[in-house]
Amino acid sequence: MIGKAWVVRNINFELKAGEKLAFVGENGAGKTTLIKLLLRFYEPTEGEILLDDIPVKEYDQTQYQQYFGVIFQDFVKFELTLRENIAMGEIEEIKNQERIDSAAEKSLANEVVTGLPRGYDQQLGKRFKQGKDLSGGQWQKIAIARAYMKDAEVLILDEPTSALDARAETEAFDRFIKLTEGKTAVIISHRFSTVRIADRIMVLKNGAVLEIGTHQELMQNDKLYAELFNLQAQGYQ
Ligand SMILES: Nc1ncnc2c1ncn2[C@@H]1O[C@H](COP(=O)(O)OP(=O)(O)OP(=O)(O)O)[C@@H](O)[C@H]1O
Ligand SMILES: [Mg+2]
Repeated sequence: MIGKAWVVRNINFELKAGEKLAFVGENGAGKTTLIKLLLRFYEPTEGEILLDDIPVKEYDQTQYQQYFGVIFQDFVKFELTLRENIAMGEIEEIKNQERIDSAAEKSLANEVVTGLPRGYDQQLGKRFKQGKDLSGGQWQKIAIARAYMKDAEVLILDEPTSALDARAETEAFDRFIKLTEGKTAVIISHRFSTVRIADRIMVLKNGAVLEIGTHQELMQNDKLYAELFNLQAQGYQ
């Protein structure tokens, strides 16, 4: 709540085990805030969040947060080596090359590794003389690898591929869907071609839920989702 204005309010939804749920809504609608509430970065001013019918407040905070693997839209670029950048997702596993390779493969960061003269040992960032700065999309693949390092129950992607080119985005999402089969995931994206892959879509407006359902259902609803979907589809023609 900022002053007297609520950021999100009266939101009621269930994230089912194994489900892929997408959040859609314009800038400032409250999507990232909901994720932060879910992760317990903030406490709700009103109401409660339950995990398996138990209020999340009753779980040990650190253990609770271990259930989630998250990539925020403003992900961090560490001025460390590429290996360290990936291992940061689960630092105890930094010597586990198999785990690092697998995370890099899932996120397409392996393409970045092979493109660098020193591979995993490449110093990243422009602060060091031998450091190499990467493109936005390359940094993003590394941030995604970081999330795959952790064997999380719930994966959350807050616009993870926004800096990727169209081919890389499709590929990253195809992989994401395959790799998270049976896993619970929340996807936030402004691209409707991505969003429609989700099992259900929740449309937020001014901090409230406008509609929730499958792509099919929301298209039939013929409200904001259908309007925005058609608008983007026209843009791609
Ligand atoms: N820590 C905070 N304290 C106060 N207000 C905040 C805070 N974080 C976000 N807000 C405000 O809450 C509203 C919702 O922000 P949020 O980041 O959740 O939107 P969003 O749906 O993720 O938008 P975008 O599509 O731009 O990422 C905005 O008006 C924002 O300015
Ligand atoms: Mg956001």
